Amino acid sequence: MPDYDSSRLHVVDHPLVQHKLSLLREKNTSTKDFRNLVTELAIFEGYEALRDLPLEDVEVQTPLEVTTCKRISGKKLAIVPVLRAGLGMVDGLLTLVPNARVGHLGMYRDEVTHDPVSYYCKLPENINQRTCLILDPMLATGGSLTAAIQFLRGAGARDIRCLTLVSCPEGIKRVLDFSEYVHLYTCAVDRELNQSAYILPGLGDAGDRIFGTK
Ligand code: PRP
Ligand code: URA
Repeated sequence: MPDYDSSRLHVVDHPLVQHKLSLLREKNTSTKDFRNLVTELAIFEGYEALRDLPLEDVEVQTPLEVTTCKRISGKKLAIVPVLRAGLGMVDGLLTLVPNARVGHLGMYRDEVTHDPVSYYCKLPENINQRTCLILDPMLATGGSLTAAIQFLRGAGARDIRCLTLVSCPEGIKRVLDFSEYVHLYTCAVDRELNQSAYILPGLGDAGDRIFGTK
C-alpha cells in the first residue's frame, strides 16, 4: 500500500498512451519524433486532467430543430510549464484549451545536490481564480515540482494539477505530501531513482531529448 494519498494520483494508462510512451523511452527515437510524442501524450493527459471542467446549457439550432447542448462555461485556466522540458507539453495543452493563459517557471537541478535552482517566474494575473496545470515531463526527486507548487501557492493558487509523463515513487510521495491542494497526473510510475537521481527505467534527460541538446 502506498504511504501517500493515492486518491490524488491519477495514472493515465490508456493503451494509446502506453504505446506512445514506449516509443518515447526508446533510446533511438529522434528529437523530432520525441517532441511530437511529448505533445501527443500531453493531449491525452490534459484530456483526463480537465475531465471535471464545468459545463453550461446552450440552445443550438441543428439543421432539424432547436436542442439544448452543453458547452464549457468559461473556466479560467493557467498552463504553467517548468522550463525547459515542460515547454514540450505546452502545445498539447493549448490544442485542448487555446484560450488558456501561460505562465513560466524557470528551474534546473543542481548536478551535485539535485536541488532545484530557480531562475525565472512569470505567472498570469488572478492565479488564485484559475485552475493551474503545472507541466513537467519528469518527476524524479520531486524537488522541482514542489518548488513549482510553492510558487503557485505563494501566488494564491488553490486548484493545482501537476501533469508529468514519467514519475517515480519518491517524487510522487514528496509532491502529494507537500500540499493537499495538488492532484498529480502521470502516464507511468517507474521503479526508482539511480545515484544521479535519474528515473529508472525512465527515458533519460527529457529537456535534452526535446531540444536536441546534450
Ligand atoms: C528535469 C525535469 C524536471 C526535473 C525533475 O529538469 O524536467 O524539471 O529535472 O527532477 P526532480 O524531480 O529531481 O526535481 P532539469 O533540471 O534537467 O532542467 P531542464 O528541463 O532545463 O533540462
Ligand atoms: N530529469 C530528467 O529529465 N530525467 C530524469 O530521469 C530525472 C530528471
